[in-house]
Amino acid sequence: MRGGTRRDPSRRTDGANVAAFAEYLHTPLLPWQRYVADVAGEIDPDTGSYYYDTVILSTQRQCGKSTLIDTQSTRNALWGPRRYVYYLAQTGKDASEHFKKYLSSLQDSELQAICRRPYLGAGDLRQPYINGSVFRPMSVTKVAGHGVQGDMITLDEAFSLSADTGDAIIDGFLPTTATRFRATGVQPQLWITSTEGTAESTFFNARLDACRAGEASRRTCWFDFGIPEDADPEDLDTIMAYHPAAGLLWDRGQLADFRAQFGQNTAGWARAFGNRRDTGIADRFIPVDLWDATVCEPMPPGAARNAPTAFGMAVDVDATHTSISVAVRGDDGVTRTQVLKVLDGTGDAVAELRRLARTYEAPVCMDSRGPNAPLHDLLSRQDDVELVPLSSADYMAVGQSYLSGLQNGVTLHAADTRLDESAANCARSWAGDSWHVTRRGSTGLTSPIESVMVAAWAVMHTEDADLQIF
Ligand SMILES: Nc1ncnc2c1ncn2[C@@H]1O[C@H](COP(=O)(O)OP(=O)(O)O)[C@@H](O)[C@H]1O
Ligand SMILES: [Mg+2]
Repeated sequence: MRGGTRRDPSRRTDGANVAAFAEYLHTPLLPWQRYVADVAGEIDPDTGSYYYDTVILSTQRQCGKSTLIDTQSTRNALWGPRRYVYYLAQTGKDASEHFKKYLSSLQDSELQAICRRPYLGAGDLRQPYINGSVFRPMSVTKVAGHGVQGDMITLDEAFSLSADTGDAIIDGFLPTTATRFRATGVQPQLWITSTEGTAESTFFNARLDACRAGEASRRTCWFDFGIPEDADPEDLDTIMAYHPAAGLLWDRGQLADFRAQFGQNTAGWARAFGNRRDTGIADRFIPVDLWDATVCEPMPPGAARNAPTAFGMAVDVDATHTSISVAVRGDDGVTRTQVLKVLDGTGDAVAELRRLARTYEAPVCMDSRGPNAPLHDLLSRQDDVELVPLSSADYMAVGQSYLSGLQNGVTLHAADTRLDESAANCARSWAGDSWHVTRRGSTGLTSPIESVMVAAWAVMHTEDADLQIF
């Protein structure tokens, strides 16, 4: 373990019972799973029930995390009559897909004898047991609005939650636990389990960071598996050495296949199999050498004469800034990009664009979603502004297109410290094989680099005829 709670041998533990249920479910506990069950199952001698009210578990993927939760949940549901156990995942689909696997493992188990027939309704999936207890999956979004009471609640893959959503669930659950404890004699438990996320994982990061800083409550136990800070995630031997399910659930040969699936997504790989948080910094997507090698002189105002030209515009998260850039394709086939303005807020953007248009008469291109939406809307209603259409799929390509342009020597950027900073600090988010600049998860401004990207894209992807040439 990278860090976490040590077993207190002076306390009894319920871990052996969890292990017995694991045998029944044909997934006998792996050593790390047993360790977590032993610590999380420690019994407070004063109450005769769980010592810990909260369990925080951070592991790599393909560890057996969700499987451990199922076993633990089964044990919890069967601790006494009429207990309520919930498995919460990001979406209803995630939750129910996982739950159906659990139901089938239950089907093959001797535990059938103590199960009632499961409900399999689309919106009402659950497993009742003959003691009146129920285990059911739910989506986080559903629960966040209404609150949920119960004896054990798990937030699985909690990295996907924002602080607001996660806190809403916990705020609904925690106040009811004292009453449940009194009624049942069993301390309710909250389990928060996840692989590390990104800077956007504001709910999980805050909790994990508090544990690491020694600031968690004494009633919280935590477990943190993963590669050390200075380890190289590309070294598969390192991954093998620190992954607690390596050699147990899969072998090194399979690990190489897992790696191949991630392709160039090195940060995603480090996160999934090293359990390293993707802070974006490690995934600086424009290598500093390439950036330095592709700088050019600022363009004189006349540069746009007789050359295909486009403006790019981008808004930062929470609309704090708006950047306006220009891209000009020269006779040499090289597209030069330059930041023209970084404005506070969005209010002056249209006026500024009109002013700039007197120097470079050109259409403008920008994303139409997120923080860009209001300004995009406004622009689309201006008669004297030509907007280059940019679909969502196009938007997912502008970053790679710009990066390829730099690599192929056909795109340059005029020296600008705001752009340099933006290029250095921006992270990217992947969706399958494509990526876009991470707005909320980046440190510093994203709009300068985004604006040059869309400007360059507009120049490269618009027919010359559509561009203002004068
Ligand atoms: N103790 C175990 N014994 C056998 N197979 C297991 C065990 N724990 C997990 N598995 C299997 O390993 C795979 C990954 O487990 P899962 O719980 O989905 O991992 P995670 O949630 O950490 O990604 C699943 O196919 C699961 O059935
Ligand atoms: Mg899982």
